Amino acid sequence: MSPRIYTQEEIAKISQSALLVGDTLAEMAKMIAPGVKTIELDRRAEEFIRSNGAIPACKGYEGFPSALCISVNEVVVHGFPSELELKDGDIVSVDCVVEKDGYFGDSAYTFMVGNVADPVRNLLEATKVSLYKGIEQARAGKRTGDIGHAVQSYVEARGYGVVRELCGHGVGAHMHEKPDVLNYGKQGSGVLLKEGMVIAIEPMITLGKRNIGIAKNGWEVYTLDGKPAAHFEHSLTITGGEARILSSFEKVEEILKNK
Ligand code: MF3
Ligand code: CO
Repeated sequence: MSPRIYTQEEIAKISQSALLVGDTLAEMAKMIAPGVKTIELDRRAEEFIRSNGAIPACKGYEGFPSALCISVNEVVVHGFPSELELKDGDIVSVDCVVEKDGYFGDSAYTFMVGNVADPVRNLLEATKVSLYKGIEQARAGKRTGDIGHAVQSYVEARGYGVVRELCGHGVGAHMHEKPDVLNYGKQGSGVLLKEGMVIAIEPMITLGKRNIGIAKNGWEVYTLDGKPAAHFEHSLTITGGEARILSSFEKVEEILKNK
């Protein structure tokens, strides 16, 4: 199956879902502080998503237990919300997918809890920049390998690791569609990008080595060396020119700025 091409009407619906994810992440930005339990974030997110007429799509997806993936420090992605209390110096990645009117939006942000050590702070910044380096390549005529190469070359030049076992993906009528969008690769390789495709780009970047393990619960991905990892994700649509980003960090960053 080749990647799906969406109409403007469909993209408007995907955009609505992606923006609701941005609003949900902004609610999380308000709450994240030392002493907050990650399960409290999840409860609030689920309530917020449902009160906006949408479905928290991760919940029940292949048995995933909660609305959000909440991944603290050495947990890279797919962390389970729990009684764990956030503490000063932690980082917490929040990944959220919602479905509204039959269309999905997907976005993730890594937050700092209180004062975070400079090397970890720099990891977060580099991971976010690498996402935008990938997005710069996401235009009709380019290939998925151009995105992966841009992400990989940016972060590896700074000494960070790219987690290879997971990747970005098409998104729209389903949470995960073709094509796979790897965070590493060769320029000019991979799937050809066409106008109307919708993809999620989501670099998962490690401070130490890129090697990961999977917890006994079958989900939680953690770094084998125990060093922190960051994860930022946008949903976007391919056009002839610059990609149109459908999710948004604007509300999140407005809240973080005034914290
Ligand atoms: N939001 C994740 C992604 O970026 C998927 C989460 S897996 C789930 O693709 F099971 F939690 F849904
Ligand atoms: Co995703």
